[in-house]
Amino acid sequence: MSIAETAESPGAAAAPRKAVTLARLADMHARGEKIAMLTAYDATFAAVADAAGIDCLLVGDSLGMVCQGLDSTVGVSLDAMRHHTDSVARGLRRVRGGAWLVADLPFGSYQASREQALRSATALMQAGAQMVKLEGGGWTAETVRFLTERGIPVCGHLGLTPQTVHALGGYRVQGRDEASAVRLREDARALQDAGAAMLVLEMVPAALAGTVTAELAHCATIGIGAGRGTSGQVLVMHDMLGIHLGRPPKFVRNFMAGAGSIEDALRAYVFAVKDGSFPDDGMHAW
Ligand code: KIV
Repeated sequence: MSIAETAESPGAAAAPRKAVTLARLADMHARGEKIAMLTAYDATFAAVADAAGIDCLLVGDSLGMVCQGLDSTVGVSLDAMRHHTDSVARGLRRVRGGAWLVADLPFGSYQASREQALRSATALMQAGAQMVKLEGGGWTAETVRFLTERGIPVCGHLGLTPQTVHALGGYRVQGRDEASAVRLREDARALQDAGAAMLVLEMVPAALAGTVTAELAHCATIGIGAGRGTSGQVLVMHDMLGIHLGRPPKFVRNFMAGAGSIEDALRAYVFAVKDGSFPDDGMHAW
């Protein structure tokens, strides 16, 4: 399928996909239906992912590594995030796509004050995002509340928070010891209480991710390298297509292996997330 076929051929995409909304996500969460999320950075991949039935697309600041060749997300600017969010949103509009669109607030665009966060979030929402994601624990709760009270849906991000890789001392598993596990659970509850509707849990032990998920009544957890007990999964799209500059993280499965097309690979990912066969127990070493 090409964008042109879907957008322009009569009959190619006869019925536009029913849009994923915040209410639908909440309903999926309540019913225990797994949420399938992937990153996207451009219009074409966004359209293909949408056709494959992905629930949520994330314009991740991982675009710093994937698209810009940076070695961390620290150097990603708000302008770059706005540019890629705009492209992804345009791709979704062209195919009358229905995926829920989340965009990352990049490093330095929300830490200074609630007002700075509101300005940055506004720029991404005006580019087409429907939700913004920000990294960090309890200290972000005040910002999350400020944004959600002003009509901006927010996704939190705990565990390995790549924007603070230098403070964390590398891309390491988080929440391994009792004290940090307790802190992570408290942070998760604080973010939910502040209004976060979604929470990415990156590289935390599967048991801890499962406990956090069970403790949150109305905030869906989306795991990456966090086992299968979360409400959904997210991967960097290039990783799961087997395209990467370095070694892929251990928890990634190459869905392109054996697939006839990229759309088939993405469809297989959606299927595997929904039926719980991704990730399998051996997908992480912690
Ligand atoms: O930037 C990103 O792609 C992310 C996901 C890996 C969760 O934050």
